[in-house]
Amino acid sequence: MNITSYFLRSVLVSAVLTTSLHAMCSSEQEALESQGDASRASLPIIHRADLTDQSLLKPVLSSSFQSQDHVEAALQIVCRTYESKPAFVGKSSHGKNGMKFPMHPEILHWIMTAFRDAKEKIGLEIAGASGENSALLAFAGLGEVYLNDIDPDEIKTFETLKLSLPEDVRSRLKSIKGDFFAIETSELIDKVDFILCRNFLHFLTDKQIEKLFSGILPHITTLEAHLIFSVNSPYTMDVFKSSLEEHPEATRFKVTRSLLTIFGYNNDMPCHSFFNTASVCEEDVDPLGFTKTTLYEIRDSNFIPAFNDISQFTPDIQELIKTKIMPYTIDDVEEGRITLVTNTLRVYTPQNLSRIFEQYGLQVKETFLIGNNGHRLDSNPLWEGDLSERVQQVGVIAQWIKDKDTRQR
Ligand SMILES: C[S@@+](CC[C@H](N)C(=O)[O-])C[C@H]1O[C@@H](n2cnc3c(N)ncnc32)[C@H](O)[C@@H]1O
Repeated sequence: MNITSYFLRSVLVSAVLTTSLHAMCSSEQEALESQGDASRASLPIIHRADLTDQSLLKPVLSSSFQSQDHVEAALQIVCRTYESKPAFVGKSSHGKNGMKFPMHPEILHWIMTAFRDAKEKIGLEIAGASGENSALLAFAGLGEVYLNDIDPDEIKTFETLKLSLPEDVRSRLKSIKGDFFAIETSELIDKVDFILCRNFLHFLTDKQIEKLFSGILPHITTLEAHLIFSVNSPYTMDVFKSSLEEHPEATRFKVTRSLLTIFGYNNDMPCHSFFNTASVCEEDVDPLGFTKTTLYEIRDSNFIPAFNDISQFTPDIQELIKTKIMPYTIDDVEEGRITLVTNTLRVYTPQNLSRIFEQYGLQVKETFLIGNNGHRLDSNPLWEGDLSERVQQVGVIAQWIKDKDTRQR
């Protein structure tokens, strides 16, 4: 059995969890500028944006940043994350802060178009890692862009990135290092016109979501602010399908999977999954916590049991161990380990993600689906096809409901 290729296709994808180039024409841009915030929300998201193409990138850079030096500096940032492979956040965080994902070019193009030359506007990217999106928002012409992240290595990378930028772009960028729930936000009160938050909400408990949407965001944002969030989708793991059919509002699942790690291969990353199970989890459990039990050590291709009492597991897990792992023989793996990992994963469908925003007084203007390479997917058969081709993330563009200040402050 070629474990390596099987692994890469199935496990890594699930574990980390045509081209109609359409630059906005100048009359559309003028209309946008004259109508201000009202027209930002109604701007269509384009079908596909190859932002490495200067003829698409240049029109979304600020009119003040049209020199060849500016365009090339912006292009270099695009190239860092355009269709990039996911990479672990931080050098010293050992994976605990998750992964950085490729840019969402169509969504970024939308934001850059909507906020082009908005010199009086302030943007904030929450948990933005090394801040390439934030830097591009400054290139689009937002007056100030704040990048927040808890990981010091990522903030350092952002500060180094800033040094490579033209001074008039760099001066618009600021970093706020630390836990977003603990940072000092007083200088931002009622000032932020735009929030970008990718792949962070699914790290949070309900209690933290409550704090974010009623304790922090309503205080720092303007009433017209746009909030753009994306989160992990359930569609990369078949095990969520039946649970979601029964409980479409569920966003929290207890997931148990049995993983094979081959020592020395791919830095000891798990490369094969014997089984995955998922069930709806009612309790407000920390999505970052997990338990890990070693079932077998593999030495000289021999399986050496590393647990004594399989009755400690639930009957369905016991059955899976007996049927999926025990009969297994692996000739081409000399050294390794088989583990059982249980954690609580949060994943959102466009519908139940929208519901959260609505619950806190926001109106969802648009939902979007993101594929493996970061591009927006127009419509996809959600549970069909190769895992890597499916919707990886879902997102929303939302605004506070304006006719009455429904924000729960
Ligand atoms: C899955 S990564 C996503 C990174 C980036 N937004 C992206 O989409 O590529 C989650 C990010 O959240 C950051 N993070 C985790 N907890 C945080 C917190 N409490 N406050 C601020 N950032 C946090 C991590 O350091 C990491 O950069």
